Amino acid sequence: MKNYLEKIKYNMTTYIKELGNSEILQLFQSIESGKMVRSQIIQLIAEKDDKNVMAISSIVELIHLASLLHDDVIDNSDTRRGKPSINATEGSKISIMLGDILYSKAFFELGKFDYELVSRISSAVIKLSIGEIADVKLSDHFNNDEVLYLDMIYNKTASLIETSTAVGAILGNKDVETFAKYGFHLGMAFQIVDDILDIVSTSEELGKPAMSDFLEGKTTIPYIRLWHWLNDDGKRYLESLHKKELSENEKSWILVSLENSGALRQAKDLARFHSKSAISLIKDYPKLVELAEKLLLRGF
Ligand code: FPP
Ligand code: MG
Repeated sequence: MKNYLEKIKYNMTTYIKELGNSEILQLFQSIESGKMVRSQIIQLIAEKDDKNVMAISSIVELIHLASLLHDDVIDNSDTRRGKPSINATEGSKISIMLGDILYSKAFFELGKFDYELVSRISSAVIKLSIGEIADVKLSDHFNNDEVLYLDMIYNKTASLIETSTAVGAILGNKDVETFAKYGFHLGMAFQIVDDILDIVSTSEELGKPAMSDFLEGKTTIPYIRLWHWLNDDGKRYLESLHKKELSENEKSWILVSLENSGALRQAKDLARFHSKSAISLIKDYPKLVELAEKLLLRGF
């Protein structure tokens, strides 16, 4: 797998080199590559690494990277994958335009594929953007609606993972429905674990400030479950801390309440449910089972 991911990195770099601009290439190469989960699943499901599988993996990674370049501007994040983000080092304008370049090149390469792949991947990007809009809008006020949160994380995160597993199945002549469902559950588990880690990890472990979601206005599932558990005074107090730079006392009140209310445990249970549902669909693929298990272990 390491070798495959090296090939994807090489392929992506070749795409960017083809643009013929050394400044863009340098910026692209300064970005940490991350785990490349989407490429891993495409290859594991297709069970081959021919030129189509490599191209689709590279396209999906470029789209994902473009979305992160935009997301860091939207979230005002100074760090990405443990390093200063492009918006922190080069400014927001450069980050947005670099994202546009990666995204356009990805779609140029995608245009060489059949309608079904183009249609599935472009639908996923529309969902990504709809999810990101919902994330921004829900962060305006304290959102206590779990259905809106789940719908938002499906669009923002799970949709591209669901699409990656579906295109992996198409490229490998497997049952698309089954693998799309696997991707849906994996994607939901992935984002819920991410939201839990924002609360329970240290800044060093995260490579970005801990508990930044709540400060950014994001009431992820542990906060929503806690809000419903609290009495009226508690609800008002929690809402008063929303989007605020928290003192150590306020942070520890939140952490203790998340533990005592069972909200954190319930969020973990939901992530476990999605991970188990994902695993139940692909029992015959030990590496895909391992991936879903590893993902949960990041959190607990
Ligand atoms: C990270 O979420 C963000 C996403 C998964 C999707 C972002 C999507 C867009 C900006 C729209 C699509 C745009 C293009 C150009 C394809 P997060 O902020 O919860 O996670 P984080 O902690 O990793 O930042
Ligand atoms: Mg973000």
